[in-house]
Amino acid sequence: MENINIDKQRHVSNEIEMPLQNGFSNDFDESSVKKYSFLKGSIPRLRDGDPDVDRLISANKPVVITDSKLVQSAKDWNLEYLEKNMGNGKNFVFQSDTRKFMYHDEKRVTQWPGFRRPTRRYEMKFSNFVEMLQMGRERLYLQQTLNDTVGPNMVRDFVKFRWEWCTRYQRLCRWGDLTSNLLLVGMEGNITPGHFDEQENFFAQILGYKQCILFPPDQFECLYPFPVSHPCDRQSQVDFDNPDFTRFPKFQHVKAIEAIVGPGDVLYIPMYWWHNIESLRSSTQSNTFSHEVPPSVTVSVNFWYKAAAIPDRIERPLKANHKVAVMRNIEKMLTEVVGDPEEIGNMLKTITEGRYDHQQQISYDTYHQS
Ligand code: FUM
Ligand code: FE
Repeated sequence: MENINIDKQRHVSNEIEMPLQNGFSNDFDESSVKKYSFLKGSIPRLRDGDPDVDRLISANKPVVITDSKLVQSAKDWNLEYLEKNMGNGKNFVFQSDTRKFMYHDEKRVTQWPGFRRPTRRYEMKFSNFVEMLQMGRERLYLQQTLNDTVGPNMVRDFVKFRWEWCTRYQRLCRWGDLTSNLLLVGMEGNITPGHFDEQENFFAQILGYKQCILFPPDQFECLYPFPVSHPCDRQSQVDFDNPDFTRFPKFQHVKAIEAIVGPGDVLYIPMYWWHNIESLRSSTQSNTFSHEVPPSVTVSVNFWYKAAAIPDRIERPLKANHKVAVMRNIEKMLTEVVGDPEEIGNMLKTITEGRYDHQQQISYDTYHQS
């Protein structure tokens, strides 16, 4: 595991147990927080302006930043407000038969015969999404890139995001362009299972609480990603709630850190860091679905930035995130040339087995010198 500043305190610092002064609401049910044995510590939780925030972000280490006011202007974005102000555009809404919403790339589905989509994707107006939530028959997760179809009030809120705050980090860390802002409106209990993204992410929490579990890139081999050409590329094949240790033995040794993010918090999720995100149960919002009371949801906005350019001089030994990038490129290249993923696995084994094992190399050299 990389040397990360592990704060032994499990998650919530006093700051969020006390009423917040920033206009955001504050509540979650402690019993909905998962207690996995692989959780080894907390993600540092620091106030905006603390010099350690800059240090951690520049070193590609996760941190929860409090009081940044990045999305203060969106503090009213609850279901009612969003229904009135999202406009008439269509939104992507995923439906899952379980609590898990594993991402898959629709374009690759036909190339993998027998692949069963983990979720179904619909396009609907926000008001239809609210109606479906109120019916309470299905588990839903709205994930929509903010675009110019949103109503004037939301445009005003969006323009008032503290853009200069993000831009400062973009410059400091030499990230590329902001690619998108994804709005996530989820039901409590929804889980985005373990995966990594190929962009830098400021994950801003607006309403409700999420348990965010992060694994450093050096845990790659314990997390068993799908092949790069698979529709579920970048996702772990392991079901964290019911791991199959026969297929995924190294998952027994995996180590993670966690944070509970609440309204007003911003979590920096560095590129290639695995994350599993679960919407926690609210202790005050309604969790029964009826027309009288708005259903309990979590609301977040992602700020995704392109990675920093590769430096002219590559530092060796390579860091874990760079190794992941190299491995993915090799796998992609082989996929293009060879095609069959089964064959790729065999070829890689043939290259590596024995030949690049340091101990075996010593005995080989000794044998040939005698
Ligand atoms: O469910 C989520 O909030 C996931 C966010 C992410 O993967 O960035
Ligand atoms: Fe993600």
